[in-house]
Amino acid sequence: MCGIVGYVGARPVLSILLDGLKKLEYRGYDSAGIVVLGRDLSLFKKQGKISLLESQISHSQVDGHAGIGHTRWATHGVPNDINAHPHLDCTGKLAVVHNGIIENYMELKTALIQKGHVFKSDTDTEVIPHLIEEELLNKDDLLKAVLGSISLLRGSFALAIIHKDFPEKIVCARRESPLVLGIGNGENFLASDIPALLPYTKKIIVLDNDEVALIEKTTVSIFDVQGKRIHRSPQTVDWDARMIEKGGFEHFMLKEIHEQPNVIKDTMEGHLDLAYNKVLLPEGPEDSLLQHLEAIYITACGTAYHAGLYGKYLIEALTGVPTEVEIGSEFRYRERMFKDKSLGIVISQSGETADTLAAMRRMKAEGIPVFAITNVASSSVARESDWVFHTKAGPEVAVASTKAYTAQLLSLALFALRLKGAREGSEDLRAKALVQELQRLPILAETTFNLEGKIQAYANRLRYLTDYFMLGRGLDYVTAMEGALKLKEISYVHCEAYPAGELKHGPLALITSGKQVCLLATQRQLLPKIHSNLKEVKARGAEVLILRFSDSEEMEADETFILPATSDYLSPLLAIIPLQLFAYYMAKEKGCDIDQPRNLAKSVTVE
Ligand code: M6R
Repeated sequence: MCGIVGYVGARPVLSILLDGLKKLEYRGYDSAGIVVLGRDLSLFKKQGKISLLESQISHSQVDGHAGIGHTRWATHGVPNDINAHPHLDCTGKLAVVHNGIIENYMELKTALIQKGHVFKSDTDTEVIPHLIEEELLNKDDLLKAVLGSISLLRGSFALAIIHKDFPEKIVCARRESPLVLGIGNGENFLASDIPALLPYTKKIIVLDNDEVALIEKTTVSIFDVQGKRIHRSPQTVDWDARMIEKGGFEHFMLKEIHEQPNVIKDTMEGHLDLAYNKVLLPEGPEDSLLQHLEAIYITACGTAYHAGLYGKYLIEALTGVPTEVEIGSEFRYRERMFKDKSLGIVISQSGETADTLAAMRRMKAEGIPVFAITNVASSSVARESDWVFHTKAGPEVAVASTKAYTAQLLSLALFALRLKGAREGSEDLRAKALVQELQRLPILAETTFNLEGKIQAYANRLRYLTDYFMLGRGLDYVTAMEGALKLKEISYVHCEAYPAGELKHGPLALITSGKQVCLLATQRQLLPKIHSNLKEVKARGAEVLILRFSDSEEMEADETFILPATSDYLSPLLAIIPLQLFAYYMAKEKGCDIDQPRNLAKSVTVE
């Protein structure tokens, strides 16, 4: 939530900051602001998207060699120009941008007001510049003043601070909210996330919790909260700037949906041993642990949670190891017992989701070793887990997760097969067939796009849709849940995903003449049951879309999308594609802001 950028160097600061903010707009987009440090501070803030801030700035001549910027996802205070960051102190010399939540801001604010400080906004953030201003009364060093101030803060923060009396310097700090430093040649950068840095540098340093950095043109110095110097070498990221362009597609979401065949190929690369029909997962837990596991606990949020459900179904089906999946925000607080010989699996595209991280830390505190599946190699989840598998989805920019989801499904399929291999050897015919089938997946995924025209026409026909139902059994229920989330979050169509067997226990009351239902029918053993569900909803006048494999029997529906046939176990990797496309084209029909849906942000780094 919220994106931060900062730059010190000789290039035109305004355009670097605006460009960086645009790359981070997926993190929040209700208001934005920039401050440039030249002879004075030049401050620009605007409610709405970054394009509005850009138009406000377009005629300004601003000189300077340092600046910070922010794109906001409001927590405290409505989105407006005043609540937009940066926030200033009383002197107007100090500016701060912040991502996170200051939990004790009310008590700090009361004390600061008693000391005579004047507040302009309703934000929690504004206490920070005033705190630093107070600290500077006794210290003549910005870094020390920041260290003194953050020791008073409770909650989470990524901060960037500039001060008129400390030219060509940015001080930044982090606790629980991500911050990455970009190392250039005679120039240095900071950002909430790597995409903002990619056009300028691939050399990064990830700031850890309770670290502070002083960024100058030619140096970057890192300190702990006591002010003790920390030495850390930069690492090189393997993403490049092209990956964060739309590449001819109208939206990032459509581009990312289309990238899925390659993402499957890249994520799988090097993990299939075709000679022995087994999966290699050197990044994961070793045989000795896998062989004696009595339980697996999976935790994640949103789309990644749906991937976790797939993991449960597959792990239990292939290996019989009891597997629980729990949403991060539930896992972190629930009172419960854990089995001794257990493994935690944490799934997160960003690797920074606050609830997922907290759930993972709870696992570790309970003595459960953690295997992480994440798309961001430098993320907190990657750094704090015992083993990490990097999905090779590349940067995902659209708020609605698509390619990261398929990469997560694939990673879990690889893990389930690896677990089976470790426990039972590699002679099982079902496992061998799956390894063979995995190889065909990229091409099958590509074939799925033959449906795109039909899906677009279907969305056009349903353009006045307000309610939708996605029903399925077994793994099809998992796909229904993810498909429903996509439709809700980008087209704002209310959508219920239900296990088809539950219809009679309540939701059937909602099925009346003209209601639109999608029935997923890829789980071959369950097809007779799905047939009955089809009859039930048709008898009540619903219009039904069937999603089935090319090799299964025709069903009497109003619309049918046919998928290339594959194993039931791998169906979620293909069946989700038409549902992602349906959500996309429905959102387009409705004129929605597809890449940046209302009220959401890509990376949910606050609770
Ligand atoms: O970065 P993460 O995978 O941890 O994010 C989890 C969810 O916030 C995320 O999947 C969210 O549900 C997406 N908007 C879904 O499209």
